[in-house]
Amino acid sequence: MATTWTRRHILSLINFSAAEYETILQTAVGFREVLSRKTKKVPALQGQVVANMFFEPSTRTRSSFELAAKRLSADILNFSPGSSSLSKGETILDTAKTYLAMGADIMVIRHQQAGVPQAIATEMDRLNSGVSILNAGDGLHQHPSQALLDLFTLTTVLDRENPRLGLLNGKKIAIVGDILHSRVARSNIYSLTTAGAEVHLAAPPTLLPKLFLDASNCQYQDKLFVHWELAPALQDADFVMTLRLQKERMTANFIPSLREYHQLFGITRDRLKLCQPAVKILHPGPTNRGVEITSDLMDDPQLSLISQQVANGVAVRMALLYLIGSSK
Ligand code: NCD
Repeated sequence: MATTWTRRHILSLINFSAAEYETILQTAVGFREVLSRKTKKVPALQGQVVANMFFEPSTRTRSSFELAAKRLSADILNFSPGSSSLSKGETILDTAKTYLAMGADIMVIRHQQAGVPQAIATEMDRLNSGVSILNAGDGLHQHPSQALLDLFTLTTVLDRENPRLGLLNGKKIAIVGDILHSRVARSNIYSLTTAGAEVHLAAPPTLLPKLFLDASNCQYQDKLFVHWELAPALQDADFVMTLRLQKERMTANFIPSLREYHQLFGITRDRLKLCQPAVKILHPGPTNRGVEITSDLMDDPQLSLISQQVANGVAVRMALLYLIGSSK
């Protein structure tokens, strides 16, 4: 059952309710319809200012938020750190206050450090600004819009017109790869287990959070399972979500070589035989082709949902901007 939206910021999925997920899914269905029209634009956020503040590189998330804001007729400010006053010593909070003074209503923030969107939200609330903050990925912490577009993709594969949490109840979803550095996995764990799915994480022990290095921590409330090998995670899986090896975040040698990683944890056509016959693959992108997944699988439209994830991302982000924008 959907709910009236009350949240000002979307920072993490940690305490999202089932009703909030349902509201987002239903709202995104409406915007997917808008995006299928000849004129793919609605006046929902006309006059509102969305500041896209990406302190870390991004292709799809940044472009997706920009397009979503434009499709809602908002005015969009794009910020990139290299060409900004940050290089002159300005602090992040001062940058945010500059955008506030220009009349920003929503700030979409990505930062390499966990907690930055929360810190800006706290400051915006302290100033009684009414500004909404949307976390577009902070360090190793959270990436709520990615997990929400994944949820929309998974549920619309099962029922295109009426996606809902219940469709995932009892489904087995394997999340494979660099869990340690993945904010995508950290957000998906909340949404998928709330939907009643069984989430099976698989990674070499060096790429799992320390908590999971004790086998007794490898099962949580019958919903989250952790494996140090690939096969038990893939066995009878309905969906396989592969993750990028995040080399830019690795501070040590976490794996002997990319080739060995691929041999043990790479998703190949042969390995998918362990899964359900109708298995589908997701990847948040960007991908290291031939490392976490073979190139031919990535490009196989029968198996790969990667392009659908990107397309759905715009409708889901329109839903998020609309819900927080129109609750003002
Ligand atoms: C992810 C991210 O930035 O956390 N990508 C994305 O937003 N599409 C995952 C990654 O960088 O590997």
